[in-house]
Amino acid sequence: MADVDLPASSEHLLVELEAGVCTLTFDRPRKKNAFTIAMYEAMTAAFRAARQHPGVRVVLLRGNGGVFTAGNDLQDFMQSPPTGVDSPVAQLLAELEACEKPLVAAVTGPAIGIGVTCLLHCDLVYAGAGARLHLPFVDLGLCPEAGSSYLLPRLMGPQRAAELLLLGEPFSAETAERYGLVNAVVADDEVHAHAHAVAVKLAQKPAAAVRASKQLMRARTRDDLREAMHAEYEVFARRLRSPEAMEAFQAFFERRPPDFSKFD
Ligand code: COA
Repeated sequence: MADVDLPASSEHLLVELEAGVCTLTFDRPRKKNAFTIAMYEAMTAAFRAARQHPGVRVVLLRGNGGVFTAGNDLQDFMQSPPTGVDSPVAQLLAELEACEKPLVAAVTGPAIGIGVTCLLHCDLVYAGAGARLHLPFVDLGLCPEAGSSYLLPRLMGPQRAAELLLLGEPFSAETAERYGLVNAVVADDEVHAHAHAVAVKLAQKPAAAVRASKQLMRARTRDDLREAMHAEYEVFARRLRSPEAMEAFQAFFERRPPDFSKFD
């Protein structure tokens, strides 16, 4: 592997390497760690470097301020909507999907949209008892992304996936564990330490064997997953420009319920 440095922490993404664990911390708590374009770019750079860096054995994802992430910044969705495979969000998802090194996530508080779908690309996920997960794509006039239209029904069965993706109601850490999205639920104030301890344990294992095992577990479905992600990008980009989506975003910022009655 090439000798590369990890990028320095940036305004809203903290990057740390210790004991073989590269911890990426979302750090925009005043906006519930909602992902901006700059954050996607910083995360993509961190993932690219982490994949190459010989000292990184495991990547750990977490959020500051008692929040995992409120998902994509809705202001960005209105002003600079992602348009396809070259967009910053798609670049990040391609890195997540292709990462040969194990990914561990520690989920506290709200995890919304991509804050949930990114977990489908993680290998081990731990959630605090008070975590609240939510896939509100339909209610935003959007559609599933990050391969979730493919991965979620495979993980939990089509009915449960429909419940989460079509009804789009928030769900608890306990439900996420029961549905197979989360490995274990731990006390809110212990989830970061717990996930870190698991990541350190994983980092001490023979790295090439870990990578090979991860590769084998994911190889059979990789082509289908990539195809699903591409199909989603097209529909998602169209949905983002839809009047339904505009109404949903405006309603969020105006702190009122959306009115979809005027759309067919
Ligand atoms: N994009 C942009 N800004 C966001 C955001 C997002 N996804 N999520 C939260 N924020 C902002 C709010 O606008 C608010 O900003 P303000 O203080 O300048 O008004 C601030 O973060 C705090 O959010 P608020 O809604 O007041 O906090 P809350 O504790 O009542 O609710 C959430 C927290 C996460 C449940 C709620 O903010 C939410 O539902 N966010 C939208 C999630 C979403 O739909 N994401 C897109 C998925 S595709």
